[in-house]
Amino acid sequence: MKVLITGGAGFVGSHLADALVERGEEVRLLDNLDPLAHPSGKPPDHLPPAAELLVGDLRSADDVAAALDGVDRVFHLGGIVGNGESMVNVRKAVDSNPGGTATLLEGVIARRDEVRRIVVASSMVVYGEGSYRCPEHGLLTPGLRPVAQLRERRWNPVCPACGSEMSPVAVREDATLRPVSVYGISKRDTEELALVLGEAYGFEAVALRYLNIYGPRQALGNPYTGVAAIFSARLLAGRSPRVFEDGGQIRDLVHVSDVVAATLAAMDRPEAPGHAFNVATGRRVTVLELAAKLCERLAPELVPEVTGEYRSGDIRHCFAETSLARDLLGFEAGTTLEQGLPELLDWVARQSVEERGEEALEGLRRAGLVG
Ligand code: UD1
Repeated sequence: MKVLITGGAGFVGSHLADALVERGEEVRLLDNLDPLAHPSGKPPDHLPPAAELLVGDLRSADDVAAALDGVDRVFHLGGIVGNGESMVNVRKAVDSNPGGTATLLEGVIARRDEVRRIVVASSMVVYGEGSYRCPEHGLLTPGLRPVAQLRERRWNPVCPACGSEMSPVAVREDATLRPVSVYGISKRDTEELALVLGEAYGFEAVALRYLNIYGPRQALGNPYTGVAAIFSARLLAGRSPRVFEDGGQIRDLVHVSDVVAATLAAMDRPEAPGHAFNVATGRRVTVLELAAKLCERLAPELVPEVTGEYRSGDIRHCFAETSLARDLLGFEAGTTLEQGLPELLDWVARQSVEERGEEALEGLRRAGLVG
């Protein structure tokens, strides 16, 4: 039987395809080559030749049926990525993520005698602002930072009960989901659709809440691509990285090779079905520290430019508990930023495509989503 990767021509999908081909699997990729991730409209050169590529759309029941033919396991990575993009193109995000997932799941339900397990890509953004501790009111899930607060350049979520500053806490999988962007909502729905339908129809479903993934093949041509790729590309073009808010935003950057390892474990491990797992390193870095690290490596004469601007839909801090994935998937992320960054920088330096962060910011500004 074959294994299907939706979004298989994308950043994570292509690395996963390599790993599966390497272990002798028959691999099929379904991808619509969305111009946001594939500006040339062509599949990338690095896809493994042994994998079969089907160019088709998750929102088409016919394309999905063709993709599922002869398949017993599905990695569902297809859909749109990025908070910013989702806040501008709302309908596209909802149609692509929960909509595409619903079409795929109907296909899986129709073939549930054959399809054994589906692993769906979710995201840390499902938690929204995540977990905080108020000195007086204990553990809380604060929800969206009000625009009025952001306009005053008060970046940290405050306690809804007493208004005091709170300390961010590594978020656990059982935290309340309070997404603060359309992308977050769309990913919450994606994972819940898979888990609920899996339980109801008796196929195995697993959701993976990835943190900020970085590594070679990260889509530079996508204006809403990840911060490590944007900063590196700007520095290589002789420009300072532009840091939003005050740069104190905490992130956990996880290397794509670790993401592939966690994703394979989610498919293979008998303990995985029915769960949503954080896929994180457990190590924190602020956006300003990341910018400074990259300046040091690529252009020591440049310093990060802290703009004090904010983007609606951005999360202040985003880092996670890793114990559930360790206990049930046997997964621990091995790659540190020091080990993983050189490979990303090498990839960015070899690209002819310009990063388009400026364009993304202009789009958000026109929509009134930057302050
Ligand atoms: C990222 C992913 C999202 C994933 C989530 C999981 C992207 C585009 N988004 O969202 O798909 O679900 O992690 O945790 O990969 N920033 C700057 N300057 C820039 C760009 C960004 O300061 O030029 C800041 C942002 O304000 C934010 C942080 O860097 O605080 C990270 O931004 P970004 O890379 O867009 O990722 P997330 O929003 O964390």
